Amino acid sequence: MAENKDQQNEQDIQRETLTTRQGHPVTDNQNIRTIGNRGPATLENYHFIEKISHFDREEIPERVVHARGTGAFGYFETYGKVGDEPVEKYTRAKVFSGAGKKTPVMVRFSTVAGAKDSPETARDPRGFAVKMYTEDGNWDLVGNNLKIFFVRDAMKFPDMIHAFKPDPASNVPHPQRMFDFVSRSPEATHMITFLFSPWGIPATYRHMQGSGVNTYKWVNDKGEAVLVKYHWEPKQGIRNLTQEEAEKIQAKNVGHATQDLYEAIERGEYPEWELFVQIMEDGYHPELDFDPLDNTKLWPEDKFPWLPVGRMVLNRNPVDFHAEIEQAAFGTGVLVDGMDFSDDKMLQGRTFSYSDTQRYRVGPNYLQLPVNAPKVPVRSNQQRGQMDFRTREEVEKNPHINYEPSMLGGYKETGKDDRLPHQPEYNAAAVSAPIDRPNNYGQAGETYRAFEEWEREELIKNLSDALAVCDKRIQDAMIEHFTQADEDYGRRVKEGIEMKMKELENMEKNEVLGRETGQTKFGQGSI
Ligand code: HEM
Repeated sequence: MAENKDQQNEQDIQRETLTTRQGHPVTDNQNIRTIGNRGPATLENYHFIEKISHFDREEIPERVVHARGTGAFGYFETYGKVGDEPVEKYTRAKVFSGAGKKTPVMVRFSTVAGAKDSPETARDPRGFAVKMYTEDGNWDLVGNNLKIFFVRDAMKFPDMIHAFKPDPASNVPHPQRMFDFVSRSPEATHMITFLFSPWGIPATYRHMQGSGVNTYKWVNDKGEAVLVKYHWEPKQGIRNLTQEEAEKIQAKNVGHATQDLYEAIERGEYPEWELFVQIMEDGYHPELDFDPLDNTKLWPEDKFPWLPVGRMVLNRNPVDFHAEIEQAAFGTGVLVDGMDFSDDKMLQGRTFSYSDTQRYRVGPNYLQLPVNAPKVPVRSNQQRGQMDFRTREEVEKNPHINYEPSMLGGYKETGKDDRLPHQPEYNAAAVSAPIDRPNNYGQAGETYRAFEEWEREELIKNLSDALAVCDKRIQDAMIEHFTQADEDYGRRVKEGIEMKMKELENMEKNEVLGRETGQTKFGQGSI
């Protein structure tokens, strides 16, 4: 009966024939070839061996950070203006010129420390990486949702990530590792203040801000540059979760944010963000009490207003997660004409790291993959290597001269154009030294005071819960950092830790008592 129904279905749906990767039709996809129907398998089981060996290689290394994520496609539409001024005053980047012009985009959202399938309710910054396929080639803006960062020097990044990940021996995560590092890195006080408040768990990817965090430059036709910071503001509004709310979601769903984004786009509810920039003259800015290139700081909005420059809409889901999201590769070095790097030390360090890891994670020709390839012609002599899959048509355009310069042919550099290059000048000794105005606590205190009272309560509770299980030296150092930021902040964390420690002590006493009287915290008689 059931067989008849299956046969009927087969006939009803005109399905295409399954083939091997060599294009051979597969006659039997259920049974390996054996000596007799119970016997050992033969080695010439070509289809089986191809199938199983491809399966064995189905995953690529996960990202060393930001492994858990998802993404979608859409477009960026420029307003052609920055605030009320023509955008060309500041940048010649074509992606921003011509009001109403649309540029295709791909966005990937992520958490930072967790592995590929870790819970999306984690208290963790969220990655917000945008790839714009512009008419001048790709532009990547690789940022986060919190607008600032833990450390300001790229030298510290690998240690920071080691401290945030589980213990290398036991693979058990413990807050002591993070706070040990952070207590010796006072510049992290500001980021920790955001992270342990409800802002540390955005409700979904659709309801969070994004920011480039690091400072870039915009360059105009005259080669003049300004410093610029980018911010994405969600049209859906901002929503964060308390620890309790997050735990309830996590108990049922470890991928709620991926599901939320996917289902919203399937329903036709396309999420949208407006892009703002803050602009500052390049320079030391002695009038500021912080270094403008320090990514642990916000640029005050009253001095450097958020100026709208365009909007982004995500309206297409991936059709294949692995091909389009897992293999996507973003980097801070991927800028177009009209943009440049600032001297922000984190930005400089990051710019080496991304393409370096992608050559390992995806392979040396990762830029040939459709999700990573620009939508303008690529005419490069960086050829060959594993998995070079240029087509015959591409190769035929320039089959012989794979070097430059040449008098015989091949591709040639553009040479100088009319637009003046931006050429910053330097005159200083090469040193390994910290910056002059660390001001590690000023903005942390301002952020603490700017929170609503319920956010402060959450912050204190989350910090106290985590710090109560840390070494006393780490607790004292963290209380000192919070006190420096704001006396009330330090006092409340101190009290919170003491309360939590008492609570833990009582729980432990009850457990001992329970064991002695045959009761456990799970109730009498349970194991
Ligand atoms: C991903 C390095 C700082 C945002 C990554 C990856 C590396 C890395 C190696 C994995 C990339 C891949 O496998 O494709 C670094 C280093 C940093 C740094 C060395 C500091 C020196 C930051 C900062 C931000 C950030 C400050 C936020 C502004 C991201 C995002 C991703 C990422 C969003 C995920 C990109 C994606 O979705 O594929 N980072 N990072 N990183 N990083 Fe950083």
